[in-house]
Amino acid sequence: MTNYRDFHRRSIDHPEDFWREEARRIHWETPFDKVLDTSNPPFARWFVGGRTNLCHNAVDRHLVERAQQNALIYVSTETGIERRYTYAELYAEINRMAAVMRSLGVKRGERVLIYLPMIPEAVFAMLACARLGAIHSVVFGGFAAPNLAARIDDAKPVLIVTADAGARGGKVIDYTPLVDEALARAQHKTAQVLLIDRQLAPERLNASYLVNYEPLREQFFDAHVPCEWLESNEPSYVLYTSGTTGRPKGVQRDVGGYAVALAASMEYIFEGRAGDTMFTASDIGWVVGHSYIIYAPLLAGLTTVMYEGTPIRPDGGIWWRLVEQYKINLMFTAPTALRVLKKQDPALLKKSDLSSLRTLFLAGEPLDEPTASWITGALGKPVVDNYWQTETGWPMLAIQRGVEALPPKLGSPGVPAYGYDLTLRNEANGEPCAPGEKGVLTLGYPLPPGCMSTVWGDDQRFIDTYWSSVPGQAVYSTFDWGIQDDDGYVTILGRTDDVINVAGHRLGTREIEEALSSHAAVAEVAVVGVADPVKGQAALAFVVLRDAERYASDKARAKLSTELTATVDRQLGAIARPAHVHVVSMLPKTRSGKLLRRAIAALAEGREPGDLPTIEDPAALVQVREALAAASGKA
Ligand code: PRX
Repeated sequence: MTNYRDFHRRSIDHPEDFWREEARRIHWETPFDKVLDTSNPPFARWFVGGRTNLCHNAVDRHLVERAQQNALIYVSTETGIERRYTYAELYAEINRMAAVMRSLGVKRGERVLIYLPMIPEAVFAMLACARLGAIHSVVFGGFAAPNLAARIDDAKPVLIVTADAGARGGKVIDYTPLVDEALARAQHKTAQVLLIDRQLAPERLNASYLVNYEPLREQFFDAHVPCEWLESNEPSYVLYTSGTTGRPKGVQRDVGGYAVALAASMEYIFEGRAGDTMFTASDIGWVVGHSYIIYAPLLAGLTTVMYEGTPIRPDGGIWWRLVEQYKINLMFTAPTALRVLKKQDPALLKKSDLSSLRTLFLAGEPLDEPTASWITGALGKPVVDNYWQTETGWPMLAIQRGVEALPPKLGSPGVPAYGYDLTLRNEANGEPCAPGEKGVLTLGYPLPPGCMSTVWGDDQRFIDTYWSSVPGQAVYSTFDWGIQDDDGYVTILGRTDDVINVAGHRLGTREIEEALSSHAAVAEVAVVGVADPVKGQAALAFVVLRDAERYASDKARAKLSTELTATVDRQLGAIARPAHVHVVSMLPKTRSGKLLRRAIAALAEGREPGDLPTIEDPAALVQVREALAAASGKA
């Protein structure tokens, strides 16, 4: 049995030896010349000169031993559809999709924007891109048209793959009008839009630029499209994520490093073996979906379960019934889903046979102690919290049960994962923190394989955003606060920047502020995240109106509030909608005009904001307090 401490130490002290061995997990069409190139920090290149392909490793390679094993099981409680694809069938579908894409002009290095609900075609499309060496950029289906337009302009795709509609909680959401609006807004005029017609939207758009997938699929039914052998450091995908500014960053990932890192994580962190079944309840639009619905389980020869629907429809027992029906061994979700299930009817969990389930993994937001205790007790199986980011692609902190089953500690996602040189540092002077001292989680250079290689199209932004924020140290900042104990366990204490986490969804408060500011009535706005018992955090908005008199009556205020939330829905999507919009006549700011968001958040959570020597006008705090009191009085 390996010992965690030595394993981790070796990965940091001898990264080349460590990762050379791990690289054996995947097929290299051409072997690499060099494990690691650190000649241009903070950039790092892994497995230099090696040629490989993600689709080959995720699918083709398994055809010899597991052609008839299920690769993908698709379940939709929205449409009642269930479909199973063996590795051989998945191979065939990907080849059809790749041939269609190729016929539409998609080539190596070009971008394909995927704006799809949770349907199998999303998996085919992503893996078809990987096959062709094209770069996919998946945009979460819940995002609105302006969001989509911004991503179109940044990624400049040659093709957009979309569907007529998505469905959530029994409601059909038409996609084509959103794509149409996004294309009208975008500077970049993409030539083609490939439409997967689910026949869900009654009045789907019939624009001339839409190409229907189905007839093309028929045309290329027997196609075999060879894999492009990419150099390990060529981009595989770009995934946009929120940060401090209103402009999302395109997190760029490589090919070889990502494949190796994910395959290794399946053994050391997830203990998933070929033939196992894994159910990751996330969305393909998020990093958890990329890594643990699609790439990692398939790279390791598992069966992956893809689910369209909510955890509570038709009732709160649906996920547990899926575990029983498909003999799911590994399950992965976010704590919010468990808090929702616990609120529904926790007894439903006992009604299904969960004997196949070995481990439950949770990530994306802090796992609170009551939820952790409840689910651990109810399942009687290990519950493994893991902490990471879109930027890293795979866990940074976790109990790595495949290395050593260290005891979990409630409230902590565990210890640093192998490959990550993680140090908590003092925000003011950049020095390492003592155990028990609060600091910023940082990573030393180089980041391990699988992490972001750069910001798409903007190397300088990668350096400026991630590697320049800790004083005097050339280290990567996670922008998360934490505390590490004497045993190395880290507890996460929230973000250092203006990112909030609502139901496991990462949102930039600046983006929500910009959306609200676009309403004519709004002069100024501050958005903060406050603790929420179910969603972890909720967004609250505080607005200053241009003409407060006009909205003096309760009726006018209520109408305005509806309009403002509708503006956020239109600009960003309903997931970014603030839980409440408070009207104030001024916002707390420093004398230099910086918004005091932390002070506002403290008041909203019923805490004292502490000393604020730089505040311009303390009366602004009184306003915030009164607005909160008035709202809670009404509630
Ligand atoms: O603040 C941390 C929080 O989610 C952020 C990353 O979100 P995203 O890019 O969407 O990637 C999610 C990948 C799982 C982090 O900066 N976060 C993520 N996991 C945890 C967490 N906070 C506490 N505990 C976690 N396990």
